[in-house]
Amino acid sequence: MPETLGVGQSATRESHEIAQTLFSAAGLLLLSITLACGAPPPTASSDERADYLVGQMTLEEKIQLVHGGMVTAGQSLPRGAGGWVPGNPRLGVPDLFMSDGSVGVGNNVGQATALPSSIASAASWDLNEAAKYGQVIGAESRAYGININLGGNVNNAGREPRDGRTFETKGEDPILAGKITAAHLKAIQGQYVMAGIKHFSFNDQETGRRTANIVIDDRSARESDLLAFEIGIEDSDVQSVMCSYNLVNSSHACENDYLLNEVLKRDWGFSGFVLSDWDATHSTVNAAMNGLDQEQPLDIYFGQKLEQAVESGEVPQTRLDNMVHRILRAMFAAGLFDHPATIEPINASADAAVAQEAEEEGAVLLKNNGLLPLDATKLASIALIGSHADVGVLSGGGSAQVYPVGGPALMEGKPCPPCWAQVIWDPSSPLHAIQAKVPNASVRYDGGTNSTQAATLASSSNVAIVFVSQWESEDMDVPSLNFTDVIHSPPIDQDALVSAVAAANRNTVVVMENGGPVVMPWLATVGAVLEAWYPGQRGAEAITNILFGDVNPSGKLPMTFPASASDLPRPVIATPPDSTTPFPVDYTVDGFNVGYKWYDIKGYTPLFPFGFGMSYTTFSISDAQLTADISANASFQVSFDVQNNGARSGAEVPQVYLGLPESTGEGKRLVGWQKILLNPGQRQNVTIQVNSSDSSRPFSYWDVNSQSWLIASGTYTVYLGNSSRDLTAIGTFRMP
Ligand code: BGC
Repeated sequence: MPETLGVGQSATRESHEIAQTLFSAAGLLLLSITLACGAPPPTASSDERADYLVGQMTLEEKIQLVHGGMVTAGQSLPRGAGGWVPGNPRLGVPDLFMSDGSVGVGNNVGQATALPSSIASAASWDLNEAAKYGQVIGAESRAYGININLGGNVNNAGREPRDGRTFETKGEDPILAGKITAAHLKAIQGQYVMAGIKHFSFNDQETGRRTANIVIDDRSARESDLLAFEIGIEDSDVQSVMCSYNLVNSSHACENDYLLNEVLKRDWGFSGFVLSDWDATHSTVNAAMNGLDQEQPLDIYFGQKLEQAVESGEVPQTRLDNMVHRILRAMFAAGLFDHPATIEPINASADAAVAQEAEEEGAVLLKNNGLLPLDATKLASIALIGSHADVGVLSGGGSAQVYPVGGPALMEGKPCPPCWAQVIWDPSSPLHAIQAKVPNASVRYDGGTNSTQAATLASSSNVAIVFVSQWESEDMDVPSLNFTDVIHSPPIDQDALVSAVAAANRNTVVVMENGGPVVMPWLATVGAVLEAWYPGQRGAEAITNILFGDVNPSGKLPMTFPASASDLPRPVIATPPDSTTPFPVDYTVDGFNVGYKWYDIKGYTPLFPFGFGMSYTTFSISDAQLTADISANASFQVSFDVQNNGARSGAEVPQVYLGLPESTGEGKRLVGWQKILLNPGQRQNVTIQVNSSDSSRPFSYWDVNSQSWLIASGTYTVYLGNSSRDLTAIGTFRMP
């Protein structure tokens, strides 16, 4: 969103709050009078309650609800919100206070818990853990008086891994991404804060995001990016969907009949409302008729112009009523009327503990030649190098930026708040956390700006730990898959830094702070690599616990790390010719084969495959049994034993993939998984159940002719393993 101003703790905000309270009191009085005259009771359905209110509203009152209440662009909004829609005191309709928050509560609400990136939450492969993550966002939103969360970014990062918003997403697989997102959103709504899912749809690159025209066919669309949304919506009952800036098959996403009317509202039966991304509305009649319900953040198309269009009959009154009904219905369903937020302090210490746990569960160990875990009792000297690891850990920028509890450790770029595309280092110092772990060792820090100097420090230390980082943000894509430094001038060549340090000390550990896939030209020369993502405001403590073995890493990649950008479906990011002309981004290249499916059909060997992640112990998976029910309500079960063969407890994520009959033209797809924690030597029997009726449509392909999910007849092959490239076929079944 465009930068909204100040933290908003000004006289303007206070007077608004007072006015708000008075209005609410007056509203309540009027509401009770109205209630006496036939309003449905709170036990009535959300639809009935919404219908009643729509029936009471004047045209002006209806129009007021279908656009943002920001009067001028960049205006400071009450409660530090990023978006605001004034309510209707006469009818007791509360204001909508919207705030961003894929990775914690954002905009200008104040200090909030900076969670690790959403991609780290996806890397936990753990829906319970993801629910805790969403619970923090919901509870903190509520504590700030925010009643709509605009997080829920489930765009497909596998389409464009250099997307500057990859850190906000849940990776490349529609099923994993959809399920993790649903867990976040359900937990947010569990706090009576309406959740949102975005950006609908195919907003997978930031380069030219307002004019990119995604070219894709119906089947590929339904089986990839749209499937993640479908699961996210069906499994969570999320009440708002944000349409995106880009065009899809030549029609803007916020006035796209196919996306909004056909897919979302008709086929998926979505009964909540669609709001536009900020300034992503392009018309009045088209947008209203093609499914947009609310313009944000201003009233350019859905203010006076919409009122006139309704009066002239260009937009039927029934459509405006439907827009308002959807908004009110969603507010009732999410509990905004019955459970208004109370402003109170956030529970910062409990939430910080969740942030730490989320990072401990989501960091992925990519390489270990035995160097890790480090033995705190044996190390006399550690060289800590790079990425401001003396003070903090990096966070991602843009509207998802969180102003962390305790304030940033360091900021580069424009002063902040208001925070939007500043570079913020969360206040969690690896230097302090490591020093606390090894109080008797000498831990010396070098900024990494001079490779020779850093190598000299490394050569006189037992171990070198190099932090490398790549800053990402909304409104930009990263220039390459390498650790390109876009913050400093002159840029620090971090690949050269790692190589120099590794040449000076073979005990080199690399800790990566980045949003998505990267290439590692120095991989063969280092002892260990930990993918820490943007680790959040307890990141240093979590990383240190992993490096020293207090926590056994268990994250698995939710994205393929390609060997090179030339293996991507679009090796070069499509760029706009100018700021207004739509330009094609061709998704017919990869179609429904996104992410690992692309690497599978092309026969490319990735640097690290989807689903991969190491542990300090080893596991074996054995005695797999397949049982299939091929009735109309088909399902199958895979039972197997998982054994921890080592001397440390640890968690493994067995993954089940399904190969569809050849006639479908599909490769294998992830259909089930389970994260299992095992004590040293423990063996456990596990059953993974896969139902064809699940929201993820695990058996089905989208049939364009019948416009439905169909199960092809033929042979299905079931695979079991611990990454998309480490699988054993354990059996087949035939569907009639
Ligand atoms: C972003 C959205 C965000 C909105 C409001 C836009 O720039 O694309 O993700 O929710 O601003 O802050």
